[in-house]
Amino acid sequence: MPDGPTIQRMFAAVAPGYDRANRALSLGIDTRWRKRTVRTVAVVPGERGLDVCSGTGDLAFALQRAGANMVGADFCPPMLVRAAGKAGAGGGPAPRFLVADTLALPFAAHSFDFVTVAFGIRNVSDPVAGLHEMARVTRPGGRVVVLEFSQPRVPLLGAAYRFYFRRVLPRLGAWISGARNDAYRYLHDSVMAFPERQAFLDLMLAAGLTAPTMQLLTGGIAAIYRGEVRT
Ligand SMILES: C[S@@+](CC[C@H](N)C(=O)[O-])C[C@H]1O[C@@H](n2cnc3c(N)ncnc32)[C@H](O)[C@@H]1O
Repeated sequence: MPDGPTIQRMFAAVAPGYDRANRALSLGIDTRWRKRTVRTVAVVPGERGLDVCSGTGDLAFALQRAGANMVGADFCPPMLVRAAGKAGAGGGPAPRFLVADTLALPFAAHSFDFVTVAFGIRNVSDPVAGLHEMARVTRPGGRVVVLEFSQPRVPLLGAAYRFYFRRVLPRLGAWISGARNDAYRYLHDSVMAFPERQAFLDLMLAAGLTAPTMQLLTGGIAAIYRGEVRT
């Protein structure tokens, strides 16, 4: 697992082409996954939400459009510059973005009604500590919702997915994003090594979250995990 500064440098390098690469490499499915995540959060208008590892801010914007007052936090300033640049594009209020490490969030306990993370917790050097910190800043009874890659178990889909992830994506990602292909090779390696399904639900429990649930998306290529903070 690379350390924090290595991760920061990697995302700084891909930031300019990140959205373009995401849409192309996922054939736009990532947008559908974020919409499902918004439905899972089930925003009550006016709720305070935090999206950590927010990157270029797509989930934070989607939750803001659903009626939440959002803060997006990430420790890579070039990603947040892209996020802030989207404000005003769709009209309406935009999330507030700030530079912060998910392992040391600059918020008091119980500051938010919910906290989300999309494709980010896998990159945090200590994921349980990251989940713990997300839970700390969520009010009792509030939700922590995670969107993350998982690995499909359907034999043909699984083989196609592994081939695409290992062989195609690093080259295509480097070409589309204009960055060196380390980041997209890292994407493959980190997804294959990261706990998924029950193993991830166990991480949520280890972080003190309760009632963890999981929805698999697109044949198990991704999953949404939801847990609650103890009342
Ligand atoms: C794959 S991107 C996901 C961005 C966005 N959430 C999305 O759905 O497109 C992962 C992001 O996590 C951020 N990140 C990784 N570790 C972090 C940490 N410890 N604290 C804050 N941000 C972190 C990176 O800077 C990067 O922007």
